[in-house]
Amino acid sequence: MMLDDLSDVILERVLAGRFGRPRRVYDEIDSTNAAALRWLEEEHVGEGAVVIADQQTTGRGRRGRTWFSAPRGSLMFSLVCRPQTRALRLLTTAAGCAIARALRESCRVNAAIKWPNDIVLRDRKAGGILVETRTAGGLLEAAVVGIGINLKWKSVDMPPEIAARATSIAAEVEDTGSGRVPARAELLAASLNCLDEHFALLATQEGRGEIVARANALSCVLGRHVTLRLANGDVTTGLARRICDDGGLELVIDEHAAVFAAGEIETLRTKAGS
Ligand code: BTN
Repeated sequence: MMLDDLSDVILERVLAGRFGRPRRVYDEIDSTNAAALRWLEEEHVGEGAVVIADQQTTGRGRRGRTWFSAPRGSLMFSLVCRPQTRALRLLTTAAGCAIARALRESCRVNAAIKWPNDIVLRDRKAGGILVETRTAGGLLEAAVVGIGINLKWKSVDMPPEIAARATSIAAEVEDTGSGRVPARAELLAASLNCLDEHFALLATQEGRGEIVARANALSCVLGRHVTLRLANGDVTTGLARRICDDGGLELVIDEHAAVFAAGEIETLRTKAGS
């Protein structure tokens, strides 16, 4: 399969780390997460295997949403991991830290994490993470960490329902006049190396503490008033105080602290409170 900047020759040259092989690369597929889960059904696939696609026809987002993308405009891949069960709840947090780090290093942009799974640039979504698991006999067998990054996609080309809240690396570089837009293979290599480093930390308690510390440092929500939609549809508002040891978000609501394991931040007020 030839995808110019994601050709096998190029990938073989740049993917020198532990993560990134074996790999399956597609011009177009339904979803790299779905393809990785099918691969796991077919055979034993080791940690570090990756599925990459130029375009997805039914890219999956959180909460059953569609993940939109543009051919050549996005970097989309799914990484197979085999985390310990106790590390699973911090997997999305660790992936967020890794991708923010990769974007900071490769693109020199000020990437942040919007709890629980968004990668943002000045509060606009530039990437997302979707972790799906495979279990056998009730036990965790593998996790598929799906990453989508809007690289060159312009807001004007995005579907209207996401254009107001989304951005891309290219748009950020153009608007701020700083940073750079790397080739997809380069950003993929940087992302996989950062994911490897961050996932390795999940193996020890000290390392998990380090991931939580990094998530707190990279979060764009802390110290701000947020409106949170919970999984059951309820909405709550409070001051975001910290990312907890289990990856949950602590809000201060009417002077009481409450920790949320899941949810979606619908509004994020500026630090000045407007
Ligand atoms: C979200 O923000 O809702 C998560 C989006 C995750 C999108 C990526 S793109 C690569 C991988 N394959 C998918 O179908 N989804 C993830």
